[in-house]
Order: sequence, then structure tokens, then C-alpha cells
Amino acid sequence: MFFDEHQIEKLEKIYRVNLMNSCSGYKSANLIGTISNNGQYNLAVFSSIVHLGSNPPLLGFFLRPTELVPRHTYLNIKEKEFYTINSIDKLNFEKAHHTSAKYPRDISEFDITGIKPKIITDFPAPFVDSSSIKIGMKFVEEIKIKHNRSRLIVGKIVSLDVKDEMLNNDGFIDLYKSQIATISGCDGYSFPVKNERQGYQKPRKI
Ligand SMILES: Cc1cc2nc3c(=O)[nH]c(=O)nc-3n(C[C@H](O)[C@H](O)[C@H](O)COP(=O)(O)O)c2cc1C
Repeated sequence: MFFDEHQIEKLEKIYRVNLMNSCSGYKSANLIGTISNNGQYNLAVFSSIVHLGSNPPLLGFFLRPTELVPRHTYLNIKEKEFYTINSIDKLNFEKAHHTSAKYPRDISEFDITGIKPKIITDFPAPFVDSSSIKIGMKFVEEIKIKHNRSRLIVGKIVSLDVKDEMLNNDGFIDLYKSQIATISGCDGYSFPVKNERQGYQKPRKI
């Protein structure tokens, strides 16, 4: 099937959302944990977390426009500066997916889904207890994308907790060993079973 620019613009809304969200490939699957100034916990699923650099260690994620829908994750990050990024494992992906439902700000998705928070002394945001990878983040900057009013939220990794059995001697994390999810489109969860590591490439002698 081929779609040109005009045909894409004319597609039925849900069809276009599904098509545009899955055509770029598999995406990362994470839960972002935050807390408000009032002490209210929040948890939401995000599939746009991307590596931005190792030194300093930066991760970014894309936030949908805030003009019409309040984004609690964003409000809490702006209030507290700190947030957590947690892996979605096979054990909790159904619950994780439900955190995308639009609950009022005074309802915690931890309570609604039964996902257990893990509180670490002196870190002002809740982690997900069952996640194999728990990342502590500090807000750095935000970049507004004028074309569609979304934002790139940039943060620095300030702590990293990885299950021992997933961590290789060279620092590489074997995600498949804990059945960590990857997302396609808006609601397709997959669980890779193997890595084919190819090593760092250098130019061949010609
Ligand atoms: C699979 C999946 C991936 C999502 N990824 C993002 C994302 O990358 N950025 C975003 O702004 N919203 C994303 N969402 C939507 C949020 O999860 C949703 O808006 C949620 O209600 C936000 O919660 P909050 O208002 O408590 O922050 C995603 C939803 C689903 C189901």
C-alpha cells in the first residue's frame, strides 16, 4: 500500500494515528513517575524516551501539547524538577498501559492500577517497585516544537538501578533477560527474546 502526502492528510483520524505511530518502528516503553508539590503521586506511560547523550548522560521524551489537556507529568516535573523513568516488564504491561487513561490530578495511577511505588529517601519522585530498570532524572531544559506545539523534555540521569543479571561486563544491558517491553503504535506491546550484538564498526581497509 502506498500513501502520498494528500492521502495521508485525508485519512480517517484513528487510522492515521495508528499508521503514523507505527511506521517508524519499535519504540521504548517506560513509565514516568512524578510527585506534585502537594505530595500527589502520578504515573504515566510514555513511548518517546530517547537517548540524547552519554556524557553528560541525557534522556529526552516528547510531550504532547499542553494547551487543551493538562499533562500532570509535565506539571509535576516543572514543580519538583525530578522524575523517574521505569521499564515496563511483561509482568505489569497491562497495568502500565492503563496509566494512559485521563484521570483527574488528585487520583494517583499507582493506586488505580495497583502498581507499587518505591520511595527512595532523598529522591523526590516515586519509582516503580517492580521495574527491572529504574532511572532517577533531573530536569534540564525543554524545547518547544513550534510546528505542532509538542515539547522535547530533556533530563539528566542522576541515578540508575539495573537488575544485576541483565548487566554485562561492558555496561550493555540485556533487556530481553527481564522481558522488557517495546511498543509499536499506540497500544502494541512486544517482548523481544534475543539480541544480535554487532559490535562497534570501523571503516574497512580499501
Ligand atoms: C503506549 C502509549 C505511549 C504514550 N507515549 C506518550 C508520549 O511519548 N508522550 C506523551 O505526551 N504522551 C504519551 N502517551 C499519552 C500519556 O500516557 C497520557 O496522556 C497520560 O494521560 C498522561 O498522563 P499525565 O497527565 O498523568 O501525565 C502515551 C500513551 C500510550 C498508551
